[in-house]
Amino acid sequence: MNKVSKKVVVGNLKMNGSLDFNEKHFNQIKIALKDVNTIDIGICVSYPYLFQAQMIFQDSNISWGSQNVAKDEKGPFTGEVSVAMLTDFNSKYAIVGHSERSTAYCESDENIATKFSIVKSKSMTPLLCVGETLIEREAGIMERVVANQIETIRKKYGTNVFKNSIIAYEPIWAIGSDLAASPEQADHMCNFIRNLIHEDKNNSIDDLKIIYGGSVNSKNALQLCGLESVDGALIGRGSLNAEEFIKICQIVNSL
Ligand code: 13P
Repeated sequence: MNKVSKKVVVGNLKMNGSLDFNEKHFNQIKIALKDVNTIDIGICVSYPYLFQAQMIFQDSNISWGSQNVAKDEKGPFTGEVSVAMLTDFNSKYAIVGHSERSTAYCESDENIATKFSIVKSKSMTPLLCVGETLIEREAGIMERVVANQIETIRKKYGTNVFKNSIIAYEPIWAIGSDLAASPEQADHMCNFIRNLIHEDKNNSIDDLKIIYGGSVNSKNALQLCGLESVDGALIGRGSLNAEEFIKICQIVNSL
């Protein structure tokens, strides 16, 4: 089974930041991590700050991206932002299917699948979030839930669409909760996702990274990202504090 070489750490700033805050935050991260070169690093910002992220990070080893994208290419979709608009700012990543969107904005697995493929069509890297609720975990159906989320995409676009992509296993109960998944839980689910994608023997999927998200911090990053099955982390709160984010990146870089 193909294993990726470089781990990846992506910050999801969610609906946080301002021009002033970002200016300091991005520069602090950029300077501190300038020699970190054995991992990929990304920061996903709110749309209005893509230009600022591009200006600050364009000459650095840090990539940037968005936290969502429209499922349509263009047209009468008030308030939406197309993938072509994201590429205007040289965005590398687009998060799709984050549970904070699928829950609060009723985003369906079908729409998430379309978004995933539209991001791929512009050679950007989709960062697909999958994961179960606490009730689903307690019912022991987390594998089925995650498999359904992934299979909706595979049925529509085939296994090949997962090449050069990132899937983040983000159990919903671990997000914003200070209760990260245990290394055993993260290992089990990341392996489950990897086996599911690779069970299609007709396609070899290169450079699919499977990462973990949900209450990652500098105290648990080594245990979680040190697992062979975990190719990195998607960081929420830990990416809002520059020192903490820098520490997490350095830890993953040292692995
Ligand atoms: P926290 O790291 O704040 O738990 O958020 C995780 C997350 O939702 C990343 O997308």
